[in-house]
Amino acid sequence: MTTHVETTRVSILGKDSIVVGYGLIESMIKEIVSGIPSSTYILITDTNIAPIHLPVFQKTFKEITLSLENPPRLLCQTVAPGEHSKSRKTKASIEDWMLQNRCTRDSVLIAVGGGVIGDMAGFIAATFMRGIKFVQVPTTLLAMVDSSIGGKTAIDVPLGKNLIGAFWQPQRIFVDLAFLETLPEREFINGMAEIIKTAAFWDENEFKRLEDNVDEFLTAFRNRNAETGIVDLSLIQTMLHALVVGSIKVKAHVVSADEREGGLRNILNFGHTIGHAYEAILTPQILHGECVAIGMIKEAELSRYLGLLSDSAVARLSKILTAYGLPVSVNDPVVRQRTNSRATPVDQLMRAMAIDKKNAGAQKKVVLLTGIGKIYEPKATGVADDAIRVVLSRDIIIKLTALERYAKIEVTPPGSKSITNRALLLAALSNTTTKLHNLLRSDDTEHMMNAITQLSGAEFTWITGEAGDILEVKGKGGQLVASSDDIYLGNSGTSARFLAAVVTLAEPCENADTVVLTGNKRMKERPIAPLVNALRENGSGIEYLESVGCLPLRVTAGMHLSGGRVELAASISSQYVSALLMAAPYAEDPTVLALVGGKPISQSYIDMTIAMMASFGVHVKKSTTEENTYEIPKGVYSAPPAYYVESDASSATYPLAFAAITGTTCVVPNIGSSSLQGDAKFAVDVLLPMGCEVVQTATSTTVTGPAPGSLRPLKRVDMEPMTDAFLTASVLAAVAHENSEKPIPTQIVGIANQRVKECDRIAAMVKELGKFGVFACELPDGIEIHGVESIRDLTVPKDGVHSYDDHRVAMSFSLLSVVTEGPVLIKDRRCVEKTWPGFWDVLNAKFKVALEGFEDANDVIGKKFVPNNGRSIFIIGMRGAGKTSCGGWIADSLGMKFQDLDPYMEEKFGRTIPQIVREDKWEGFRKLELVVLKEVMEKYPSGYVFACGGGVVESLEARNLLQAYIESAGIVIHVHRDVKLIMEYLSVDVTRPSYVDDMFAVWQRREQWFADCSNFFIYNSDLSDEKDVAHFKLTLRGVLETMIGVSKVHEKILAKPRSFFLSLTYPDVQDAMPDIEELTAGSDVLELRVDLLQPAPHEQSPSLAYVQEQIGIIRKYTAIPLLFTIRTVTQGGKFPDHDYAKALDLYMLALKLGIEYVDVEVSWPNWMIQKIIDARRFTKLIASNHDFSGKWKWDGPEWQAKYEEAITGEWADIIKFVGFATSRMDNIYLEEFRDLHKTKPFLGINMGKTGQLSRVLNKILTPVTHPLLPVKAAPGQISAEEILAAAELIGE
Ligand SMILES: NC(=O)c1ccc[n+]([C@@H]2O[C@H](COP(=O)([O-])OP(=O)(O)OC[C@H]3O[C@@H](n4cnc5c(N)ncnc54)[C@H](O)[C@@H]3O)[C@@H](O)[C@H]2O)c1
Ligand SMILES: [Zn+2]
Repeated sequence: MTTHVETTRVSILGKDSIVVGYGLIESMIKEIVSGIPSSTYILITDTNIAPIHLPVFQKTFKEITLSLENPPRLLCQTVAPGEHSKSRKTKASIEDWMLQNRCTRDSVLIAVGGGVIGDMAGFIAATFMRGIKFVQVPTTLLAMVDSSIGGKTAIDVPLGKNLIGAFWQPQRIFVDLAFLETLPEREFINGMAEIIKTAAFWDENEFKRLEDNVDEFLTAFRNRNAETGIVDLSLIQTMLHALVVGSIKVKAHVVSADEREGGLRNILNFGHTIGHAYEAILTPQILHGECVAIGMIKEAELSRYLGLLSDSAVARLSKILTAYGLPVSVNDPVVRQRTNSRATPVDQLMRAMAIDKKNAGAQKKVVLLTGIGKIYEPKATGVADDAIRVVLSRDIIIKLTALERYAKIEVTPPGSKSITNRALLLAALSNTTTKLHNLLRSDDTEHMMNAITQLSGAEFTWITGEAGDILEVKGKGGQLVASSDDIYLGNSGTSARFLAAVVTLAEPCENADTVVLTGNKRMKERPIAPLVNALRENGSGIEYLESVGCLPLRVTAGMHLSGGRVELAASISSQYVSALLMAAPYAEDPTVLALVGGKPISQSYIDMTIAMMASFGVHVKKSTTEENTYEIPKGVYSAPPAYYVESDASSATYPLAFAAITGTTCVVPNIGSSSLQGDAKFAVDVLLPMGCEVVQTATSTTVTGPAPGSLRPLKRVDMEPMTDAFLTASVLAAVAHENSEKPIPTQIVGIANQRVKECDRIAAMVKELGKFGVFACELPDGIEIHGVESIRDLTVPKDGVHSYDDHRVAMSFSLLSVVTEGPVLIKDRRCVEKTWPGFWDVLNAKFKVALEGFEDANDVIGKKFVPNNGRSIFIIGMRGAGKTSCGGWIADSLGMKFQDLDPYMEEKFGRTIPQIVREDKWEGFRKLELVVLKEVMEKYPSGYVFACGGGVVESLEARNLLQAYIESAGIVIHVHRDVKLIMEYLSVDVTRPSYVDDMFAVWQRREQWFADCSNFFIYNSDLSDEKDVAHFKLTLRGVLETMIGVSKVHEKILAKPRSFFLSLTYPDVQDAMPDIEELTAGSDVLELRVDLLQPAPHEQSPSLAYVQEQIGIIRKYTAIPLLFTIRTVTQGGKFPDHDYAKALDLYMLALKLGIEYVDVEVSWPNWMIQKIIDARRFTKLIASNHDFSGKWKWDGPEWQAKYEEAITGEWADIIKFVGFATSRMDNIYLEEFRDLHKTKPFLGINMGKTGQLSRVLNKILTPVTHPLLPVKAAPGQISAEEILAAAELIGE
């Protein structure tokens, strides 16, 4: 590629040894040969890079050195790519190779590659013959700006990364940006994380440059030539060069000042203390830079928690990382998908941090920021564990805090969301440039800004000012352009409503003539129809893409509002009105907006919109002749040069209410009586009558609460002008009490709209207040709360407060928690981020409330099942399937009572079943059956096994009941047997009313319902005699133990010195049954190779019914635990590799059958494995992988990578790896592998005759054959007896 950038030199440790430029190979070799002369150069690279770049290097080297008197040698060695090569083994083998090639003290080593090659080769250079000269040629962005600079070299050892290494400075570092042309996109982004990191703690200008050029960078990097795989960097060459040089300079400067990590050098580790902890868990699926991105956000949040950093700085950091495609949390969908939602338990993160090399003693050290580009101190700061825990945890515990009665606390809440969003929109619609101060930075703001940017509606620039960030908005006067990408608005109601009206201004462009507005799931349920109707009637083209009346909407560009008279139903949301008001000046004619359908809701928001429009130069007139009608002139907005967004008055209710409930004083300095916000009246209208002292000026509010516990109830208050504040008022009402004959409750009315907010807030408050022992109930348009007599009566919610993903719920209850005796858990504390990301930090730093991070063990493990523990069990199935006999056996075996629901019903209603059916018809019968089902579920929650009538699943309500029972982790077992047998049985049963339909049709109709309404399945084989029955009962016991979660099979097997499994390889297991006792003698588990069973006609795999039946047969004859295996073709079996749907059906069947072990091939897609994990209950999963090629070596990267994949997500109970031995040594390497991989029980063997030794050395569930079996399941398989004999011989 041609280049326009000059080659730059950067000095480090007093030498000009870093060279940055484009296409440096030739000049680099010249400089190496002349500047660091040697007879031997050793080039180390990896096998990804070698084919692309090595030939050019070798050729150029030859050309340049040919003319020399004694041309030096260039020896090249390549290693496997990836972290695995940073090992003792790789290092040793390269060293041996160098020695064999007579390398000496004056050989020069050249490391061409990413950080892996640089670190490992650098360490070789540091130790080879006590140290040889070396040159770094970084080829990844990360290596260019980070790992190649500073002289840190290292390898990984089993106990941790980078633990063995040396400081060894390279002679030169050649940063040739041309290498980036072949770098994969993800690796580029990974490197961007380090560049963003450096800018974030050091240089705000650089940070700004990164913010401003996101699109340029990403576009360049995504623009890859499909054939060559090369990206065209010409457009960003200059910028990239400046960026890399800038980043390198910072690192070089810091390293030069502190070469050996005395203190300053630690600042380079911003984001790394916590980032490394995540990396320890998430590697290798998540890359270093990605973990550092998550770490940066957590460390920035930590700075905020400690009162050092503003909300907006954290938001800015988060935004830029997201923009570059980096994750900012482990909940990022890509991270979850890549790691199978691997848990990152706080305890484990804390432990990982404890072994950080930076730590001084026990205290963890973190680089703290005070702003973008500003560090708190020029080193990492010691931080208490408690603070780090709070930042890492999802939930938070609020402890009762001793408060200073006379403390006066000043709090400035974040800017108002309503004002922010209006200001953004009005500024964008203006034909001027304005500076917006104190904007709220929230998801809503981001959505609004992104949408406006997407519509080319304005240009935004952040400026860091003294008092936080300021947004400069260059408006486009209402000229919007359609966009071909959907505009995603998350759950931002304001953005959705405002934009629905404003996008009607959009003009079509080359690639788009419509605009699609969409949102998340919840947003797609929130109403918008009245607004859409009004807009449609006024000439715009809007259609619904999914549900009628909700987002997503498609708006036709160029169909503008016509103006004139518009009628709008305004009793559901004032946002509709505001949306229309703001868009109206751009309609073709002046608009008259008439609000119909009764009193408009939230008039104050309408007034706010009108007042703000006036500040932006458009004056709306209220009609003098017509009620609730407004006249909007045509015009163009013109923003003032600066606009100050008032703090959010709803948010301000929390600090003010804090004063009220705790008896302290709080000042909110920028909201007073002149406020435009309805909630600004909270202090005067709510707190004052409750007994607080309130002092309000035009622009400030001060509240002092009465002594704790002495607030007075409000009796009845209409909070319609400040609906969002009702939650705050509710928690105060919870402790408000008046001594009178009859306790006086508080009734808050006028808040019906709160049912359609983030959640049904009225219902949520009633429920959560109840958890504090406060009685409350719903009113049609409000809530009634009976305050407790004394705050000491407040109870601690047992399982914590549920936040409903609603910031206001979480913040309100945090207030009540402060006065509740005993610690209160608030779940999902992060929901406050919607309007006040730093809320908890203010609570802690300003109000001195003691907080503690909390993590529920259940959240960590993901979906966790608890043993059934005596909970009643329901049995469903066809009449004649054996529900009564099976039910009896189940009850016996579990020590429970059995009850058939038919006789129960007969007794309850005093009529026989045939009588009921005759008199009430089937319909009536089903109704009574439902009554019975409900009754026993409620009355007998434990201790019973109930057999339901065969037709119970015919009613939808009954199906719902049964499904809910399963959902709540209850057990419903479907008992079934061969339909032919059922029919035979039924035809001889004359005591029951006969079916009206043909019996087969009945079965067909119900089959799916039975499946949907049960979580377990028992196949009742034809049990002909007492012996069969006895056997079956025995098996049933084992199966039930697995189903209810008390089975000890797995523990017992692991405890044994040796265990074995025998594989059944018959197309029909019936053939093995005569000898089954003998066959399985000595084996602990019996494997059923499902893929080898008789395939269904015209198919490649057996039918579900056949598999069901086969397992039924096995269980009739033997009680041995089963291993259910579906072996795919590539893994050496017969199951079609890509028949995911069938495989999943079979897996689900296995789980339903309560099989003890299920083999899951690691190579199945992640989504499929996830489904199995979610449904598995107590079945143990074996993560398996096979290599038949014999190409995978036990010390090679493939098995290592597979192992890491297999332990991902912690779902595997046993890992089973089967390789192929081509030499005796393969067994030894396997043993080494076994020694190094002990995270999970490991079953590792080699196939082939040569591999037989590995079968003797493996201890857990070694697969064995038996002389009676017709064929061996795998090459090299031997019998248990043979293994025991061999083990004896070798003294094992
Ligand atoms: N020494 C230090 O100060 C320091 C600092 C940070 C990170 N590190 C270490 O760096 C390592 C990570 O380095 P990395 O991110 O460069 O990973 P890497 O070396 O594994 O390279 C990433 C991938 O990109 C491929 N690749 C490299 N250059 C390429 C190119 N030009 N074209 C196509 N493919 C290319 C590699 O083969 C590899 O698959 C870690 O081991 C980490 O511990 C060290
Ligand atoms: Zn790093």
